[in-house]
Amino acid sequence: MSIPLTYSFVRYLAAKKSVDDRALNWQVWQRLVGALPEATPEQPLRILEVGAGIGTMVERLLAADVLTHATYTAIDMAPMLLAEARRRLPQWAVEQGFQVHENRHGQLHVRRGGQHITIETEAIDVARFMAREHGRRVWDLLIGQAFLDLIDMPTTLPALCSLVRPGGLLYFPITFDGGTDFQPEGDAEFDRAIEACYHQAMDQRVLDGKPSGDSRTGRHLFANLRTAGVDVLAAGSSDWVVFAGVNGYPADEEYFLHDIIHTIGTALTGHPQLDAERLVSWVTQRHAQIEQGELVYIAHQLDLLAGVPAPIGERQGGKF
Ligand SMILES: C[S@@+](CC[C@H](N)C(=O)[O-])C[C@H]1O[C@@H](n2cnc3c(N)ncnc32)[C@H](O)[C@@H]1O
Repeated sequence: MSIPLTYSFVRYLAAKKSVDDRALNWQVWQRLVGALPEATPEQPLRILEVGAGIGTMVERLLAADVLTHATYTAIDMAPMLLAEARRRLPQWAVEQGFQVHENRHGQLHVRRGGQHITIETEAIDVARFMAREHGRRVWDLLIGQAFLDLIDMPTTLPALCSLVRPGGLLYFPITFDGGTDFQPEGDAEFDRAIEACYHQAMDQRVLDGKPSGDSRTGRHLFANLRTAGVDVLAAGSSDWVVFAGVNGYPADEEYFLHDIIHTIGTALTGHPQLDAERLVSWVTQRHAQIEQGELVYIAHQLDLLAGVPAPIGERQGGKF
């Protein structure tokens, strides 16, 4: 494909799915699946996903056949992304052999074999959602994929943890952890300057007057979970490694790479520590390397699974 003329976050998230599928840490995933409590029609597993985007994680859980009875609440601040989730999920589910129907409350019921999943979506900022739900509802499992590096974790994480019942689980896959590398190396010094400035831009991001980013969220998550009174149950790396094989880049990953380069170029335009002309030629060269199937992209990330301690007397029944 040639360099895209326009970029779309929906397409980026869709293209990211196959990259995530390869990257997700298998050991952490297995630990999650093993720790899921038994669910029944009367007591379905209550799952909350924050920053759910276009719903690729619910697709992954359905495809893996690891849920039996569950209600899945997917929230995101971007209504457009949830609209896309609601468009693609029924289509995807039918292709996978699920029966799908939507009830009058707008919930999607998805059924296949022993899986009975009810999915609801809400476009809302996570801070507003937490304030509204605090003391009202709790969930058995909270998921935040590629999400925590976009918020102020020290202030947000304790409130997120309080939405999980004692004995419940938190799963934070694809959490960025401070490594961005492109091959082939160009001017190694300039490559390093780009990485440093890009990470610095994440660290300094402010939204609505609040800090909202940390380029080393993954490693900082350990201490932040401990402060929130939550135990880390499993952790491992989930690096993105994107490269062209003999048939080129898989799925829509060529677009994914163009989007990443475009995002970095846009974020760093006008950066006082980078020469503007060199940045333009770096961006141009990286796009050309993608067109030639030469670019390799590696981003370092971590997956963490955590558990809210159950009261002492109730622990023996838990699976973790
Ligand atoms: C990098 S995307 C990841 C989306 C999805 N989890 C995935 O992995 O494909 C981050 C998502 O978090 C959402 N988001 C960011 N800040 C948020 C906030 N304060 N409240 C709710 N959603 C937020 C964005 O709209 C976006 O969909």
